[in-house]
Amino acid sequence: MRIRILGSGAGGGFPQWNCNCANCRAVRAGAPGFAPRTQSSLAVSADGANWVLLNASPDLREQIAAAAELAPAEGDPVRASPIKAVALTNGDVDHVAGLLNLREAQPFSVYAAGRVLEALAANPIFTILQTQLVPRIELHMDQTTPIKGDGVDLGLSIRAFPVPGKIALYLEDKNAPNFGTTAGDTLGLEVIETRTGKSFFYIPGCAKIDAPLAERLRNAALVFFDGTLFHENEMIEQGLMGKTGSRMGHINMSGDDGSMAAFGPLNVARKIYVHINNSNPALDSNSQQHAAVRAAGWEIGADGMEVTL
Ligand code: MLT
Ligand code: MN
Ligand code: ZN
Repeated sequence: MRIRILGSGAGGGFPQWNCNCANCRAVRAGAPGFAPRTQSSLAVSADGANWVLLNASPDLREQIAAAAELAPAEGDPVRASPIKAVALTNGDVDHVAGLLNLREAQPFSVYAAGRVLEALAANPIFTILQTQLVPRIELHMDQTTPIKGDGVDLGLSIRAFPVPGKIALYLEDKNAPNFGTTAGDTLGLEVIETRTGKSFFYIPGCAKIDAPLAERLRNAALVFFDGTLFHENEMIEQGLMGKTGSRMGHINMSGDDGSMAAFGPLNVARKIYVHINNSNPALDSNSQQHAAVRAAGWEIGADGMEVTL
């Protein structure tokens, strides 16, 4: 199974268009230790020819252009794409807006939780993906869904499960508990290769590693995990936004309540941070925070990075 990180940044990417923070200034200037990042997405293939995208970011056009595997092949018909399916972890703008890049009457399938499919159905802009060509298929929690699209069986299945998190920002109900979030608004995905039974986890948004999630991840071969923030308060401290990580539905990397500590006893063979926000000091590969992440056995995901499992 081949996995390519299409985008390793959080919403807004790195640099973010309107951000003048130290990290964004450094990456714009091409400072050593900094690399630009597009928004959060992976591509996965069992056969190297047919691919499922995990989330579709607003940067999808440039991500496809940077990956030869995702272009039509030489012998293909005049309209063709190796992208046969897209699976969504939530309804966030950085994860669904790229569906609009996949218009042009190309058949593929969209897999998502029921409430995310409802949010797409409620927004007429997504009717540009005609449902006869682009079926929308519900991911039922803790069931194994075979991934198919455009008449092709990808040889992969996805087991979706709810993780602690928050409803998409644009759907928040300010008067409801946890802004109207219900279980399943933020998913983790376990992608399983049919032929070998090998699997990995993709969890780009997660507010907390609770006991059921820890047990699920124990002894995993590979986990791509929410690397949004290093510190719970870093966006407030940098004057960027008045929100903590928990208010945004994202766990921090550092500290006793952070993801590095939570993964410590879980014996995960390979751990890669993705969905890394531009405020995160670990983005500077010469920083002590970057060194701390590496010392804890983590890799910092980068655009174009490939993993074979
Ligand atoms: C998030 O990850 O918290 C969202 O992408 C925020 C947003 O919609 O900008
Ligand atoms: Mn996001
Ligand atoms: Zn910034």
